[in-house]
Amino acid sequence: MCGIVGYCGLKQASNILLEGLKRLEYRGYDSAGIGVGNDGKITIIKKKGKIKDLREIVPPDLRGFWGIGHTRWATHGEVNDINAHPHTDQTGKIAIVHNGIIENYMTLKEKLSSEGYNFITETDSEVIAHLIASYYDGELEKAVKKTVALLKGTYGIVCVHADEPGKLVGARNGSPLVLGIGEDEMFLASDVPAILAHTKQVVYIEDGEIVTVTPNSFNTTDHLERNILKTVDNVEWELEEIEKGGYTHFMEKEIHEQPESIMRAMRGRLDIELATGHLGGLNLSSKELLNIERVKIIAAGTSYHAGMVGSYLLESVARIPCTAELSSEVRYRNPIVEPKSLYFAVSQSGETADTLYAMRELQRKGATVLGICNVVGSTIARESDGGVYIHSGPEIAVASTKAFTSQLTVFYLFTLLMARMRHMSYGQGTEFARSLSKVPEQVKKVLDKKEEIKELAKKYSKAKDFLFLGRGINYPVALEGALKLKEISYVHAEGYSAAEIKHGPIALINEYTPSVFLVSDDSLRDKIISNLKEVKARKGKVIAVAVEGDEEVAEIVDDIITVPHTNELMYPFLMVVPLQLFAYYCALELGRNVDQPRNLAKSVTVE
Ligand code: AGP
Ligand code: GLU
Repeated sequence: MCGIVGYCGLKQASNILLEGLKRLEYRGYDSAGIGVGNDGKITIIKKKGKIKDLREIVPPDLRGFWGIGHTRWATHGEVNDINAHPHTDQTGKIAIVHNGIIENYMTLKEKLSSEGYNFITETDSEVIAHLIASYYDGELEKAVKKTVALLKGTYGIVCVHADEPGKLVGARNGSPLVLGIGEDEMFLASDVPAILAHTKQVVYIEDGEIVTVTPNSFNTTDHLERNILKTVDNVEWELEEIEKGGYTHFMEKEIHEQPESIMRAMRGRLDIELATGHLGGLNLSSKELLNIERVKIIAAGTSYHAGMVGSYLLESVARIPCTAELSSEVRYRNPIVEPKSLYFAVSQSGETADTLYAMRELQRKGATVLGICNVVGSTIARESDGGVYIHSGPEIAVASTKAFTSQLTVFYLFTLLMARMRHMSYGQGTEFARSLSKVPEQVKKVLDKKEEIKELAKKYSKAKDFLFLGRGINYPVALEGALKLKEISYVHAEGYSAAEIKHGPIALINEYTPSVFLVSDDSLRDKIISNLKEVKARKGKVIAVAVEGDEEVAEIVDDIITVPHTNELMYPFLMVVPLQLFAYYCALELGRNVDQPRNLAKSVTVE
């Protein structure tokens, strides 16, 4: 959530901080601020609203070669100028930015207040500045160390002191922090895109570590002040990947990237000749894979929907009992870890608190948890016991699209691998692998339908409620279609199994509530057509996403978007794309902020 950038070097810090914050806009935020050090003082400028509002009040001649910046996603205290970060101590010499939540801030605040410290914001974060001040005696890192020892909760913090020019001190627990190494300059950020324009050399800071940075050096210690030897990683993302490249929105770009991103997820992993999948990062031998008796998938939001498709595949194709569950629920229900179970934590960002904490809880109970992540070096990717990167490239739009289809790709590969180790014949495996290899081309064909989908959005975007309905492997796709529409257009939408509507939701049907039906040509087609007729009989408008040439469906429904025919298991790839485009165009029709929808954040690092 929100973002942090820190800079020390030879350039004007304010420009670098504002540019870095701009790159983090996609994460979702409500206010922003910077603090720049110069001449024994830290100048703080902060404002509710967007980076462009902040930019307007930053004097162009603001001098200073080191500083910190922040985009806030408020958790404690109203969204206003005062609560925006950075926060300072009473002298104004110490400034901090913080991502996360300090759970024991009330206790700390009461104690500090009784000692005479004066609080001016409603945030939990302000206690950090006063605590550092209470311990400060000339060395910022020492005071930060004592401070973080008292903090409970999650934090990524970067601090500066006016009397220690060029120095940044960072610490983390649960919120990401990455150090960027440049030439005579260093960066600390919550997220790589903030610094990618300047360097690709990064060091990932771990929970419990404190890092002290100057333009030419960095030093990382643990809470016992022991030095930690860190490795420098090279980021593989290119700058162009975090730019819009001719598209109006990142979401539009990312939807269109899917033929390529799906291909990337399967490159070197799909073996048509041997009809299997190769997933090196699993860290499990064939024998160990063969011993697995159950698979459990944990995730949130869109990643959970991908996990639901994964569970359908693993159970029905690989014949391994499998469930997908919301990570937020797993953590607190004292889950039972069975010895021969394998867990997957699915997360685009690799930082989602619900999933991360559930993963840790499972690991504490002895589970082997593999990660399926996009962001290389993210916390889930590092802390999991192995896993697979989906290689989507940076996903900037808050609404996840290309990550979903790449997560699916990984589940298809894993299913093929597991099924072939068990009962699946070479012939069946070849058919599965061939169908999968054709998906990128078929997704391209679906993308060609965008003008039709745009027209549909024009026709339907004024509706107040939508139902998205699918069955079998397309049921999670219906959930995903509803989530997409909700997120970016703020239109109420519910996803259901089409069979389930007669148990309740059909009461919502009237001529003003459109239903989007996913009708593939599988064994459930006739059943879903019956469900569709039930809606039509109640004057409900029906939009179908169906298979090319399905005249019967075309005749019954009000509108239809067709996708190419494929193996019945591959339809989730083809059916989700029209839903993504539909949500995108509806949001445009309604004048919404597509890439940064209200109240949402790209990576949700609080519970
Ligand atoms: C997707 O469009 C959402 N913004 C959200 O549901 C997201 O999928 C969820 O927060 C999980 O994120 P993750 O994949 O980074 O863990
Ligand atoms: N909890 C802090 C606040 O509400 C930080 C929120 C954030 O991570 O942006 O200010």
